Amino acid sequence: MMLVVGGKKVAVVLAVIVAAAAAVTVMAAAAADPSCCKYCSDGSKACGDSCISDSNTCHQPPGCACNGTAPPSPPSDPSYDHQTKTYHAQFKPLELSSADLTITPFFSPDHSVDTIVDFISKASKTLDIITPSFSSWSHCSSGSPCVGCKVSTCSGEKFPVFQAILNAAHRGVSIRIITNDFGDVTCEGKIAPFDFLSLNGVKVGMYTSTTFTHSKFMMRDGNAASISSVNWSRSSYMKNREAGANIEGKDMALVIDFLTAVYERDWEATRPYNVTNSYSASDMAIITNPAHRDFDIPSGPDRPYVSPKPKPIPINAPFKLWTSPDFSYKALMSDLQAVKHSFKLYIYQVTDDRLCDWLLDAHKRGVNITMLVSSEIYGSGDQQKASECFEKLQAKGLVIHRAWQFGFYMYNHQKFWIADGTRVSFSTGNWSPSDFPGGDGAYPPYGEPGWQSVNRDFNVRIDDPAVAKVFDDVIMGDWSNSTTWHPPHHHAGAVSMTNLFDTIEQLP
Ligand SMILES: *[C@@H]1O[C@H](CO)[C@@H](O)[C@H](O)[C@H]1NC(C)=O
Ligand SMILES: *[C@@H]1O[C@H](CO)[C@@H](O)[C@H](O)[C@H]1NC(C)=O
Ligand SMILES: *[C@@H]1O[C@H](CO)[C@@H](O)[C@H](O)[C@H]1NC(C)=O
Ligand SMILES: *[C@@H]1O[C@H](CO)[C@@H](O)[C@H](O)[C@H]1NC(C)=O
Ligand SMILES: *[C@@H]1O[C@H](CO)[C@@H](O)[C@H](O)[C@H]1NC(C)=O
Repeated sequence: MMLVVGGKKVAVVLAVIVAAAAAVTVMAAAAADPSCCKYCSDGSKACGDSCISDSNTCHQPPGCACNGTAPPSPPSDPSYDHQTKTYHAQFKPLELSSADLTITPFFSPDHSVDTIVDFISKASKTLDIITPSFSSWSHCSSGSPCVGCKVSTCSGEKFPVFQAILNAAHRGVSIRIITNDFGDVTCEGKIAPFDFLSLNGVKVGMYTSTTFTHSKFMMRDGNAASISSVNWSRSSYMKNREAGANIEGKDMALVIDFLTAVYERDWEATRPYNVTNSYSASDMAIITNPAHRDFDIPSGPDRPYVSPKPKPIPINAPFKLWTSPDFSYKALMSDLQAVKHSFKLYIYQVTDDRLCDWLLDAHKRGVNITMLVSSEIYGSGDQQKASECFEKLQAKGLVIHRAWQFGFYMYNHQKFWIADGTRVSFSTGNWSPSDFPGGDGAYPPYGEPGWQSVNRDFNVRIDDPAVAKVFDDVIMGDWSNSTTWHPPHHHAGAVSMTNLFDTIEQLP
């Protein structure tokens, strides 16, 4: 029934339901069900992709809306979790009192694709990447019960980053990618993007250090790094609001040392991606063709919003870089506790009670808080948790704004905040317990006492007015086109299937 949305995770859930005789298994599958784009309860019912009032008649074919209330999460070990050993916090934040660096902030929807492709194009020796997932722009990472597309389609992959990586591989750059293992199997006779890259010498490793790697990260030639909120999906590059920066310059050795230590730790623990199909000589000729690949860089959607052109900003300023989970909550809190008079937060979601309480306390002690959040959050559990926090804050007089939604299923997925006017932080993670877990620094695998869902993320803080200004322009520009946040109610509008497809591809 839910097959109408066509995503692979949907099919997996269905297969479990079909195969399972025991009610308990069905429940576990339903609890993890990513195919429900929303739950309809309290006098409403599922109709197509929307909720309608119980008293109305539904004229839509079944879609992605589900009856009932959102199940608790996580009810069971997430399928992408391959951690087997306790992870111990080990990477202390790198803190420089005056860093001589060059920072190039960039934002989706206009300037992620050109900035990141340019970053890759400049690699001459090494390129180390972390991406949570890969959602092909040519439907090569989806399908059910297996994924993939024809060799010629994958070769023509429309995601420019894929082609830029192949060009780098062909000019001899040594490339590694760390990503999560969602259990995808490539169909017989087809190829998936990671197969294609692997067959071109790109080393792909499946993450196991903690529950999930949530980093959107690249480093190049031991002299440049790129840290952002940008997922490898079309919507993240071209439709969402996303934020990040490239970091280069004189003091880069220290930054690279830190990033390399984390990368090598995670790489060491990866399981190699295995290409399971074999390809004919003529297919291999297409796959490994070393000719330079031309590709289109699409321009951003035509709509009015602030869109700073990425430009390098030289700094000599306090700089801090830290990774999650290692000491990440403590490092964030110590920064937050230093906030004196103003705080601007432009974030996808706040689902952490401790951080929500910090906002409340700061507001109470007179800090001027400007808070802009995503209109929509993917995942009903997260949406509900974030709403609880926002309602609590608004009840105490903190006015929260929701960013203007330029269409259905466009997220404001950036994660950045500006303290006291000049101290800007940006992160690959949300204000969620999985991104800033805290605790005693020991994160055991699922099944052991004290387990919690823990992500690998990177966080950067820069105390520089020129860098802060670029981020400030974005939050204030988007703020000017925003409305007061109110608890979400059910949309009557239709979900675009393409966008929904993208989203489901990006699970969790
Ligand atoms: C939801 O419940 C209504 C009755 O309340 C039913 O007609 C409809 O088919 C259900 N939809 C789904 C997707 O289960
Ligand atoms: C790939 O195959 C090797 C050797 O059989 C195995 O150890 C490894 O776990 C496999 N990788 C994944 C991601 O399953
Ligand atoms: C609080 O910050 C906002 C956004 O910068 C600003 O417009 C407003 O004037 C500030 N309010 C006070 C009381 O300073
Ligand atoms: C945001 O901009 C769009 C496009 O110009 C406009 O239609 C919409 O009304 C604006 N929303 C708000 C809340 O200002
Ligand atoms: C981005 O990717 C992460 C990890 O795959 C996922 O948790 C998140 O839902 C995605 N979000 C958006 C808005 O693209």
